[in-house]
Amino acid sequence: MKTTISVIKADVGSLAGHVLAHEALKKKCDDILSEAKDTGILEDYYITNCGDDIDLIMTHHRGEEDEEVHETAWNAFKEATNLAREMKLYGAGQDLLSDTFSGNIKGMGPGCAEMEFKERPSDPVIIFCCDKTEPGAFNLPLFRIFADPFNTAGLVIDPSLHNGYKFEIFDVIEHKKVIMSCPEEMYDLLALLGAIGRYVIKKIYRKDDDEIAASVSTERLNIMAGKYIGKDDPVAIVRSQSGFPAAGEVLEPFSLPHLVGGWMRGSHNGPLMPVPQKDATPVRFDGPPRVIGLGFQVANCKLIGPIDLFDDPSFDRSRVLASEIAEYMRRHGPFEPHRLPSDEMEYTTLPEILKKLKGRFEDIE
Ligand code: 13P
Ligand code: 13P
Ligand code: MG
Ligand code: MG
Ligand code: MG
Repeated sequence: MKTTISVIKADVGSLAGHVLAHEALKKKCDDILSEAKDTGILEDYYITNCGDDIDLIMTHHRGEEDEEVHETAWNAFKEATNLAREMKLYGAGQDLLSDTFSGNIKGMGPGCAEMEFKERPSDPVIIFCCDKTEPGAFNLPLFRIFADPFNTAGLVIDPSLHNGYKFEIFDVIEHKKVIMSCPEEMYDLLALLGAIGRYVIKKIYRKDDDEIAASVSTERLNIMAGKYIGKDDPVAIVRSQSGFPAAGEVLEPFSLPHLVGGWMRGSHNGPLMPVPQKDATPVRFDGPPRVIGLGFQVANCKLIGPIDLFDDPSFDRSRVLASEIAEYMRRHGPFEPHRLPSDEMEYTTLPEILKKLKGRFEDIE
């Protein structure tokens, strides 16, 4: 029997402002997921948060895009929203774009990463959850994990990785997808992946046998909503060891706090800071953007763990560097490239301002 991991996330309210999902909201989600476990929809689950986003990590035997699993997540977020409204938490129900569930949570606001596989004799899986950024934030680290031999020694020295991986890329603006193969198409692939607001990695497969290796939530909330609501703070599932990159190779790219879109009002570039769970509290200028990494062993559809992977002094230097980059970027105020480029702002605040100025624009002689 195959195992499915579904990670579904949403921001349904936080304190103070956009910093933290309240414990009571996670407890509410726990009530709903525990019921779903009792009735056999779920085999196991773990609930966490990164900043103001609640991440539901669920295992089951029902495959991807299962209506009952998605509805369970939806109900958890709905119940948590009701509580967030009672508590007058900030942005209650922020990421829920609809009032009623309609079969699949995709397109309704929450982000969703899923994968189905036959468990190996031992199956280490790493779940990454971000806050104050967007799905394209995973492009650079995932490329480095699965395609860069200077990051992943296994690509060179482990025969089970040596043939490389295939990348499924979504064009989130045109709603198209393409599969590209590495290392042969590496330069073409990078031409797309560098455009982090448009081309995002959805899935990665091992080339030898098409085995699933990674899955990312690619939903772009503001494009769906047609206006700025919040950032599409993404999650990713990555398998490791025995035919996949080692856990240490999976974590290594996050030692560079690379620049990602998000941060204050979802409209600024800033460094992605790898943090332990307890520090997933984006405070400075509502940031800088954060990523947590939780390591599980998946055993007979149960989640053993997690270990809080960035709770390690070897990432201290990355956090100091992220703070230095944050300081440098902040000094630019409303100027690009700290503020996002205008085409990204088109999905956020710019249309309203341009509407106001319409009629005042004149032709240049
Ligand atoms: P261990 O000898 O600690 O199992 O390490 C093996 C390995 O490949 C680490 O990347
Ligand atoms: P979130 O997407 O995390 O809610 O952030 C919204 C925001 O505007 C932060 O400044
Ligand atoms: Mg929020
Ligand atoms: Mg958030
Ligand atoms: Mg958000």
